[in-house]
Amino acid sequence: MSEGKNLTTSEVRELEAGSNFKVTGAVVSAKVRYDKNRRPFWEMSVTDAQGSLDAKIWSNARWWDARDGQKIPLSPENLDLQKELLNSPVGVFGTVTEFKGRSQYQFNEIYLLDGNKYPLSLFLERSPVPVEDMERELREIIDKCGEPVKIFLEHVFQGPFMNAFRNAPAAVSHHHAYVHGLLEHTLAVTRGAVGLAEAYIAGGADVDLDIVIAGSLLHDIGKLDAYSLDPFPSMTVPGTVIDHIPLGYARFARLTEEYDLKPEAALAIGHILVSHHGRREYGSPVLPATPEALIVSAADELDFVMYCWSASSESPRGESEVSEYHPSAQRRFWKRANSGGDNGKKGQ
Ligand SMILES: [Fe+2]
Ligand SMILES: [Fe+2]
Repeated sequence: MSEGKNLTTSEVRELEAGSNFKVTGAVVSAKVRYDKNRRPFWEMSVTDAQGSLDAKIWSNARWWDARDGQKIPLSPENLDLQKELLNSPVGVFGTVTEFKGRSQYQFNEIYLLDGNKYPLSLFLERSPVPVEDMERELREIIDKCGEPVKIFLEHVFQGPFMNAFRNAPAAVSHHHAYVHGLLEHTLAVTRGAVGLAEAYIAGGADVDLDIVIAGSLLHDIGKLDAYSLDPFPSMTVPGTVIDHIPLGYARFARLTEEYDLKPEAALAIGHILVSHHGRREYGSPVLPATPEALIVSAADELDFVMYCWSASSESPRGESEVSEYHPSAQRRFWKRANSGGDNGKKGQ
């Protein structure tokens, strides 16, 4: 693992087809598959602080065990992929290929590296927004509220809850799936919801801004129980079998008792938590039934799709203005050429 310059995964995504690269990262998924001739090949996802690369590894690739500083040939068929590869550091040499006009990646040489020399913290992706800036914004938003919501939010966003909230990812994949992702997503939803609420209030609508803010800030608190960082974002068992919406409502119910929130405010905010996905088939047991819940649900959906648009506009080399089909956003995104400026930059 010495020759050639190490690239980050985001630098590799800029490369032309036919280019070679070298990347150091951690394996976040590895699966063996078989082609029609029953020859094995592997699908591996390697992540670093800039994102991840999904690659194919054909049966003629070379594997090396370099964990003890030597280079010992390795047969991948004898490897326990889950135990020896998952969450382990690797160095890979690869090539960019092209399929139907899209870049794909292939790893030709894989080096298993020493976990002490390459700790996983090196490869953890974080929010592009500085966490201190986000926390400052959170405090400013809470300060805007009146009683009793303000005092309740001040109690909630402190201590162990705040430590967990500050670091949590907003997802395992799809959007904000990195350290501080939940805080980044929560602020974007709150900003959007406040903007919408103020626009409707200006038009004469009866919208309670404090309830909008509390509902936005708390809408995804179930993700504290649904996801964990070990050290990469992963789904917990409660997250899988209960889901973040009921988990969030249970957490919220405990908080309202602990900090004695008035029942009327608790009901209005609780309704936002359970209805924020907007549809039963998306996991909400009830649909938004108040202006505050409609606004938070719309802001949540919008932030998700805006993130997907933003991430798709960074995909390979802009060879097409239209992105690949995005299954969870259920659409292709349009990456308009010459759209003038850098609107929609990730993290804004
Ligand atoms: Fe959610
Ligand atoms: Fe959300």
